Amino acid sequence: MNSLHKVIINKVTKSNPIWIMRQAGRYLPEFRKIREKNPNFINLCLNKDLSSEITLQPLKRFDLDAAIIFSDILMVPYGLGQKVEFKKNFGPVLGKINIDSMSNMSEIEFSNNINPIYSAIKKVNENELLKNKATIGFVGAPWTLLVYMINQQSPKRELKNDFFKNQPLIRKILIFIEKFLKVHIKNQIDSGANIIQIFDSWAGLLEEKDLPNYVYIPTLNLVNYVKSLNVPVICFPREIKNYKEFCETVKPDAISIDYNVDPKNILRDIKIPIQGGLNPKTLLTDKETLKKEASKYLNIFKDHPYIFNLGHGILPETDPNMFDYLVKTVKDY
Ligand code: CP3
Repeated sequence: MNSLHKVIINKVTKSNPIWIMRQAGRYLPEFRKIREKNPNFINLCLNKDLSSEITLQPLKRFDLDAAIIFSDILMVPYGLGQKVEFKKNFGPVLGKINIDSMSNMSEIEFSNNINPIYSAIKKVNENELLKNKATIGFVGAPWTLLVYMINQQSPKRELKNDFFKNQPLIRKILIFIEKFLKVHIKNQIDSGANIIQIFDSWAGLLEEKDLPNYVYIPTLNLVNYVKSLNVPVICFPREIKNYKEFCETVKPDAISIDYNVDPKNILRDIKIPIQGGLNPKTLLTDKETLKKEASKYLNIFKDHPYIFNLGHGILPETDPNMFDYLVKTVKDY
């Protein structure tokens, strides 16, 4: 059993396994080197040799407990035939939704469109660096994917006024997304993923009254589906107004918290295993501050099943030496 499974399934509190969101990414010079030669991000995700190599890059450097497959939550809209591009210094830009062609998409065609992701998971799993370590597959939550598919770019701080106007379209998209997210989850597990994380990066944009329709119900359907496949599922409903209600309603196997959450309150409110929390900006300070802040989380969760991680993805400007120091601090605790 790997150390993440021990925490999530056996509720072990003695060890603090660590992995970091975006651990394979731009803060690593060896990633930037590959990225420079591959300006098209989608094609990079669809190159099984390079995406598996990138996935392994952080595990070669640091004593991490999990690999997360180098891919993106927007590979699902891409697989459904929506145009997806990543513009430098801007982020993702999506094309218009063609609901008719999406309606005609078969599960096989969808899987074929993004098949190299599954080949990459198999390749990663065969590597000896993965011995006794978790392989994390992931999806975007239906709400966050809906936001990108309709908004066609990151919403930054708020949704457009007319975001909810076309209700029939929204309902149709949510049905498609749920169906194909299940296919994507199943394919990742069949290829060797043994944990699934659901990223709901824009959960914080919703008012409480809209959470049941857009977050709780669609996410619960996915969580129940992952559980039916006997694989643990971690949810990250970033900046959601009410983590306690989320956990009681959706019942994931573990919950990943953002850096605005007060860890003491969450410990009081939530009984399931907890992951993450540390502000990624702490890695931009100095070793002393980093140790102090990391120890704060380790102390608060010392008698609770806890997986060390950040409260959002690692920043591109992070010094890999600070990452190394963080891993050592957690391991030596
Ligand atoms: O965590 C990992 O190491 C696995 C790979 C991974 C990526 N994206 C690679 C990536 C994962 C799990 C994601 C998830 C993802 N993608 C989310 C959810 C988590 C979050 O950050 O809130 C979201 C919202 C996306 C969509 C996305 N992809 C955005 C908004 C951007 C641009 C912003 C940015 O950070 O550049 C991306 C690009 C992206 N995805 C990069 C990486 C390594 C950077 C690409 C580059 O090299 O330019």
